[in-house]
Amino acid sequence: MRFGLFDSGVGGFTVLKKVVELCPDTSFVYLADTARIPYGVKTAYEITQIAEEISSWFANQNIDVFLVACNTTNAIALDLIKNKLNVPVFDLIESAASIIQESRVGVLATPSTVKTKAYTNKILGFKPNTFVIEQACPDFVPMIEMIKPNSDLISNVAIGYLRPLLKQKIESLILGCSHYPLITPLLTDLLPSNVKLIDPAEALSLKLKLFVDSKKSNFAKKKHFDNSKFYVTSDPENFSISAKHWLKVFPEVNLVSLQKKGCVS
Ligand code: DGL
Repeated sequence: MRFGLFDSGVGGFTVLKKVVELCPDTSFVYLADTARIPYGVKTAYEITQIAEEISSWFANQNIDVFLVACNTTNAIALDLIKNKLNVPVFDLIESAASIIQESRVGVLATPSTVKTKAYTNKILGFKPNTFVIEQACPDFVPMIEMIKPNSDLISNVAIGYLRPLLKQKIESLILGCSHYPLITPLLTDLLPSNVKLIDPAEALSLKLKLFVDSKKSNFAKKKHFDNSKFYVTSDPENFSISAKHWLKVFPEVNLVSLQKKGCVS
């Protein structure tokens, strides 16, 4: 089975890692829209346009399943992606919302995701009496995308983002942007031990595993990193270095152009 996934940059690595752990007989096509990162401060119109281009590109990639590894696009353009692609689509927000047990939940996410209240709405759909507080974290993605992220700087910023959530006595904290699990150790240090960290990629990969297992005989087995491909919309060398840092692989990274003239940049 071959799955497609995308993100604005290295955030999708956190989803990729969980998925290849649970579904080792799969291969993938990973697209990082590095030319347009960050997504999290773009308007809903811009994200919709990007989602349209990305799904058109994936429609020609011969994939069996699609994973929306970017929460911002998930929050704004999930229906568009589902309508454009002819394969099952797995998303982060519903996957995470469906497993929430706690009654006081915090969400860290990009400003564009927070604006939609997608996490709050989905969680309330499953558990109507839950208290949900969302916090926008505009500084995280640019800091995490640096080749050598500065932990002290990120910690200082994180303290400010976490303060209002801790004041509200949250019992769990959803990492509502796929970049954030890359700083899990740092966040764990800042959180009281009774606050559970939730990485939506875990719930997504469990759902995907059930699907893969149910279809196994229909798909040829592939070893994930052998048959897999990485694409970016700018600076393949830099992305290759990031892949080595976070995934411990040094893949061939191909440059693609998604944009038609006059589109979002
Ligand atoms: N990692 C993506 C997300 O989950 C996009 C972050 C960004 O580019 O701002 O929202």
